[in-house]
Amino acid sequence: MAQSVVKPNQRPYRVLFVCLGNICRSPAAEIIFRKQVADAGKADHFEIDSAGTLGYHEGSPPDHRMCETLERLGYTISGRARQIKKIDLEYFDLIVTMDQSNYTDVKNLDRTTQFHPKIQPLVRFCNEHDDKHVPDPYYGGKEGFEHVARLLEDGCAGIFNRTKDIVPMNS
Ligand code: 4NP
Repeated sequence: MAQSVVKPNQRPYRVLFVCLGNICRSPAAEIIFRKQVADAGKADHFEIDSAGTLGYHEGSPPDHRMCETLERLGYTISGRARQIKKIDLEYFDLIVTMDQSNYTDVKNLDRTTQFHPKIQPLVRFCNEHDDKHVPDPYYGGKEGFEHVARLLEDGCAGIFNRTKDIVPMNS
């Protein structure tokens, strides 16, 4: 991992995006959020990752349809799928889920409930969309991937705005 320039007493704010397979929605959210913070010159203030509740696609790159959509919108693709682990609940500051089933699954991983406040659906951060969840585009067409990308851009921008209050933005 790259050396952080955040002051010694301030560590990067850790954000984990979670979906089912970690090949469509959550890697796209990771890629989008990474670019938004980098474009704002704040890359060193965040540690960003994504994971799936399912281990089935472990080690796979993002789905080619998601990649095509993101590349068309100007993003560079990176990342390999992994399954969420219990330790992620403790490690990350904010855990962002895509739909009701990921939200429930991640909450169920935290038997103690102590980390529940960190677990938040992405749509809660949207300003321009009133969708109730980020739909799974896996079995649908091209328009589904486009809609997911736009929804994620909106939600990620909302997360960045909210975290401005937490992450030092004066450097
Ligand atoms: P994701 O999409 O949760 O956005 O990565 C899916 C990927 C794979 C499957 C379902 C959803 N699957 O059933 O294999």
